[in-house]
Amino acid sequence: MEFHVITLFPELFAAASWPGMVGRALKADLIKIQAHDLREHGLGSYRQVDDTPYGGGSGMVLRPEPLFAAIEVVNQTRPGLWRILLTPQGEPLDQALVRELSGRRPGLLLIAGRYEGIDDRVSTAVDQEISIGDYVLSGGELAAMVVIEAVARLVPGVLGNPESLAEESFADGMLEYPQYTRPEEFRGMRVPEILLSGDHRKIQEWRKTEALTRTARRRPELIRRGRP
Ligand SMILES: C[S@@+](CC[C@H](N)C(=O)[O-])C[C@H]1O[C@@H](n2cnc3c(N)ncnc32)[C@H](O)[C@@H]1O
Repeated sequence: MEFHVITLFPELFAAASWPGMVGRALKADLIKIQAHDLREHGLGSYRQVDDTPYGGGSGMVLRPEPLFAAIEVVNQTRPGLWRILLTPQGEPLDQALVRELSGRRPGLLLIAGRYEGIDDRVSTAVDQEISIGDYVLSGGELAAMVVIEAVARLVPGVLGNPESLAEESFADGMLEYPQYTRPEEFRGMRVPEILLSGDHRKIQEWRKTEALTRTARRRPELIRRGRP
């Protein structure tokens, strides 16, 4: 699966800087990440990409011409990518949306904004607008990395043990059960006896109950939503 990013900071997406699972998936050619420099489509000798907002106000806004040009060039060289504008005003990213995105082939084109934001006409050049949460970052690059990391984990072959996908948080609309490893006792805190019992049926039941209790306590809206 391919991830393309239009950004003013392409160096942030250099393959060498991806640790762990994404780095291994890149080396194994299971995924590809390619950054496209928005500045190359800037206007005039200064390669200008931004301008002051109509109607006044602070900060600068990304102009539409460089963004449209960048999107069109990527679309010519790699047609069929699902075009996503990263914006705090977009559809909130959750695991259900991550799953949907992991099925988009040949891949995703992620557009990272900067400054005060992006000329609103750019929304006509994309398929979807996505927010990674109700807070404001200075730029869309970290948001693009969040999408890449979350989606890449679901690409077949990327996770060493695909069974862990079925059990982790949000897989069935709930948070995961509590996890423990050695030692059995740490600073007076013991691992629940049931996990040491070797009784797999009882352990499964305990995990289900714990997942439900934990979700009800921490994120009750997930249960009300009832979304897989
Ligand atoms: C400073 S923000 C602009 C915020 C804009 N003025 C607003 O209030 O909606 C600059 C860029 O960062 C990215 N960004 C910031 N927060 C984000 C979020 N929560 N999700 C996705 N992208 C975000 C977007 O690409 C945005 O264009």
